[in-house]
Amino acid sequence: PESFVVQIPRDQILRYPPPENARKYEALRRRGERGNCCCRCCCFLICFLLFLILAVGIAALVLYLVFRFKAPNYAVTNVAISGLVVTSSGPISPVFDVTIRANNPNSKVGIYYLEGSSVDVLFNGVSLSSGVLPAFYQPSRNVTIVQTALVGSGVVLGSTATTALVNDQSQGFIPFEVKTRAPVKIRIGSVNTWKITVKVRCDVVVNSLTSPAVVSNSCHYNVRLW
Ligand SMILES: *[C@@H]1O[C@H](CO)[C@@H](O)[C@H](O)[C@H]1NC(C)=O
Repeated sequence: PESFVVQIPRDQILRYPPPENARKYEALRRRGERGNCCCRCCCFLICFLLFLILAVGIAALVLYLVFRFKAPNYAVTNVAISGLVVTSSGPISPVFDVTIRANNPNSKVGIYYLEGSSVDVLFNGVSLSSGVLPAFYQPSRNVTIVQTALVGSGVVLGSTATTALVNDQSQGFIPFEVKTRAPVKIRIGSVNTWKITVKVRCDVVVNSLTSPAVVSNSCHYNVRLW
């Protein structure tokens, strides 16, 4: 009897299985699927671990900020005033030269004071002058004295503020409000935070307009973390 050799590709046999191959095909298919599933599991696990590490890092940073971070403190130590004429009823152009003492008491934390800050001086709710803080980096355990000129123009005091100013001047007790808004980044070890906005409000009392000495000064601030 003659015999023939017929060659058929293996996958074709498996794809259209005769009954005896059906089980083998099914087993092969399932193994393939299981491999795929395992790969997906690994991928998910790695993503999850990365996410966990990130979350722990952020939590550690926030905990450090909340518990170990010593709040910097600020004080207006010196004020020189010009152009604040009480007698004139027309618009005035007051100039305040303000000296601010910024103290960073932290041992491992530095502060970047960024561009885009604003400083305003108000009397009795009337904005008199404004300016900016210089951008600088304050290293840990550092006191930096910052001087800035705050300039106003076309300011109309109004009768209420004028009366109050005349009265306060005669008593040698003139309260100003210095409002600062500063974008900062905090450096912890070698990691920098995102940009944080710090608002500092100082109540500064001087004893005279012509040669003012600061008689009282208290600053409080609030922080917007994002
Ligand atoms: C604080 O830092 C500034 C700027 O880096 C530096 O010029 C100054 O000497 C430092 N002051 C102190 C007391 O360390």
